[in-house]
Amino acid sequence: MLETTSGKRRTALVTGAGGDLAATVVPRLAATGWLVAASVRPGTEERVMERFAALGGAVTVVGVDLAEPEAVAEAVGRLERAYGAPEALIHLAGRFEPGPRPADGVVNAAAVLERALDGNLRSAVNACAAVLPGMLAAGRGALVAVGAAAGASPAPGSVAYAAAKGALAAYFRSLAAQVAKRGVNVALLVPKGALDTPGNRRAMPDADPAAWIAPDALTDAVLFLLDRPPRGLVHELPLSVG
Ligand SMILES: NC(=O)c1ccc[n+]([C@@H]2O[C@H](COP(=O)([O-])OP(=O)(O)OC[C@H]3O[C@@H](n4cnc5c(N)ncnc54)[C@H](OP(=O)(O)O)[C@@H]3O)[C@@H](O)[C@H]2O)c1
Repeated sequence: MLETTSGKRRTALVTGAGGDLAATVVPRLAATGWLVAASVRPGTEERVMERFAALGGAVTVVGVDLAEPEAVAEAVGRLERAYGAPEALIHLAGRFEPGPRPADGVVNAAAVLERALDGNLRSAVNACAAVLPGMLAAGRGALVAVGAAAGASPAPGSVAYAAAKGALAAYFRSLAAQVAKRGVNVALLVPKGALDTPGNRRAMPDADPAAWIAPDALTDAVLFLLDRPPRGLVHELPLSVG
């Protein structure tokens, strides 16, 4: 079991814990000894508590809108008082937006961009800002978020999502440069394609899931990034099939 020097279990804040990838990541974190604070969209707490019921006391669920900075600060403050400062943030929250299309008009284009920024960028900025002071005070920690191929490689149909994931990548690169020498590893996992999730199977029923990245492999990468030594930090990790 992983423990702090004081003998307490280490706490990991996992955002987007109601989403598809969290169904694999959270149990694996719990199995390796982490206490998981699972952050979910307010109103979904009970459903997510049921999802992780078998993990017992290894998981605590907190409802918070990650796009709201005050709410995130308050939620993380409560976690810190109850369990100590998180030593890891695994930011799985995100939001795919198909659009806007050129014909959508200015107002719709702006609304799509705001949703993409809330889900992919503001959520990350707020979560990182909330947990980082505790990590810097401790001189150790890891911030891991999930980017997307769209953030760097142009593809039709996802311009707002691409802009938000591109901004997330720039934010993570700069944050890594800012805090790496203070014991905090800031890392962006970048799947270079779809993951084999229930959501993708529903959205693309005719595609072959065998060609998609395995959630267990993404989880392996998360666990790897959480425990990099100070002289071997990894700030960006692409994942692909083939
Ligand atoms: N699945 C893939 O193929 C794939 C590929 C590349 C990258 N990624 C990235 O990997 C991450 C996890 O993917 P996934 O498949 O697990 O996604 P998912 O099933 O859509 O889960 C994302 C979760 O984040 C939550 N969320 C978004 N904005 C939030 C906010 N402001 N406050 C609180 N919760 C919020 C969502 O809640 P709501 O549903 O209520 O919005 C959802 O539960 C995402 O960042 C995604 O962009 C996924």
